[in-house]
Amino acid sequence: MNRPSVVVILAAGEGKRMRSATPKVLHAVAGRSLLGHVIEAASTLEPLHLVVVVGHGRDLVIEHVGEIAPWAMTVVQEEQRGTGHAVRVALDALAGQNIDLGSGPVVILTGDTPLLTGATLVSLMSDHASSSASATVLTARLADPTGYGRVVRDADGAVNRIVEHKDASPGELDISEVNSGMYAFSVDGLRAMLGRVTTENAQSEEYLTDVIGLLRSEGETVAASLCGDESEILGVNDRLQLAQTAAVMRDRINARWMRDGVAILDPATTWLDVDVEIEADVTVLPNTTLRGPTSVAAGARIGPGTTLTSCEVGADASVIHTWAELAVIGARASVGPFTYLRPGTVLGEGSKAGAYVEIKNSTVGDGSKVPHLSYVGDAEIGAGSNIGAATVFVNYDGAEKHRTVVGDHVRIGSDTMLVAPVTIGDGAYTAAGSVITDDVPPGAMAVGRARQRNIADWVLRRRPGTSSAQSAAAAQSAASTAETQSPHASHVPNKAQEDR
Ligand code: UD1
Ligand code: MG
Repeated sequence: MNRPSVVVILAAGEGKRMRSATPKVLHAVAGRSLLGHVIEAASTLEPLHLVVVVGHGRDLVIEHVGEIAPWAMTVVQEEQRGTGHAVRVALDALAGQNIDLGSGPVVILTGDTPLLTGATLVSLMSDHASSSASATVLTARLADPTGYGRVVRDADGAVNRIVEHKDASPGELDISEVNSGMYAFSVDGLRAMLGRVTTENAQSEEYLTDVIGLLRSEGETVAASLCGDESEILGVNDRLQLAQTAAVMRDRINARWMRDGVAILDPATTWLDVDVEIEADVTVLPNTTLRGPTSVAAGARIGPGTTLTSCEVGADASVIHTWAELAVIGARASVGPFTYLRPGTVLGEGSKAGAYVEIKNSTVGDGSKVPHLSYVGDAEIGAGSNIGAATVFVNYDGAEKHRTVVGDHVRIGSDTMLVAPVTIGDGAYTAAGSVITDDVPPGAMAVGRARQRNIADWVLRRRPGTSSAQSAAAAQSAASTAETQSPHASHVPNKAQEDR
């Protein structure tokens, strides 16, 4: 494959129809910006240089390019005077930096076509090389070509010129083959003709498309590379097209994983970002979104109703109705339903985080369980421990966060408040309803609650005539009748009187 000297990506336009404070090319599809998708496709060609022409929202776009493609160069087009002008500004900037483009082709792309693939660019390059043309236009046939530039061919089928929709005659508007806005050019031909492009057209802009007609008028060959999948050239101009593009991308990504052995039960409601990694034999249930560099190991079941951002899920884990970010879920762990795992959560192998449990910046050791209704923050829980229902790791004193350490094989009673900083030794227990403020030595039972006292007949005296009082009186008389009839009737002990 002949490598392009440079790929120029045009991204200076405003994207008015998005009606957004965010520059158009920074809107994301499948966890990657529109521009990022185009840069990714361009990278397939291994160009010697990559230039992004920026204008509207330039600060944000320049910063973004610096993050995702630091090797790329950004060139500012102060005023958007047309696609031809944009390319001219890019070539001038390269010349200004004494970058010699040699004889390699120049590839022009636009920053708002995220569905473009590297494979299509490779075939554009090979068509360009095999036809020895000065320019090769990537084209597509559209059922509705409205708005696009039309490819006007000679009687013998050779590409003659491109006419913009706004400048086209009624006959030309009937042409279904459109200009994608993507091309391969010979450096010299492009440079020479850009100097001759005028602004005499309906939009008073320098049209890059005019270079095609100018090359032909100079007797140069111009070729077309027809893209079979017309979705690849679709540009995003508004929120509707953004959503349509996202759906096409979703289907592509899901198809790829299903071919690789992932069971996706409802592809229409499964949204996987481009950086997600999934092993074969993972099952993804409906309404599941995996974002960022999330990875899922073999045998795991994710969903339904789960959103994981930048998480790592171990083999055979189960994650149901969960929202998690920057969490590590160990092999065979069980999470959910209705679980919230915040950054820094590490769940060990075979551990459990059950219903209505929130965990943050905490490690839950192998085989340990937080089954119900608990908050675990800034904690380290050893192996084989059980955290009773409704336990709170009280990590915040109003000013600072503190850590709690729970050892191995600990039993935290239900409704325990562990007031950090505090350490619960290995094998220790806490009594249900305790507020634990002091460290608990290994093997001890910590009781931190008021003793219960029962005030006999309080309801009969203070709430006479109520349904409670009637119910209590009935129970008392039934009990005394039973006692007189059978003196050996077993006594039901009051739980509060039991050993504690
Ligand atoms: C352009 C093509 C048209 C093609 C269509 C495909 C021209 C004259 N027309 O039309 O034949 O069918 O793309 O989508 O080229 N840009 C700049 N600076 C400018 C102007 C534009 O960077 O001064 C960028 C835009 O941000 C955009 C791209 O170039 O990414 C295309 O510009 P746009 O104005 O959308 O051109 P179209 O009218 O769509
Ligand atoms: Mg456009």
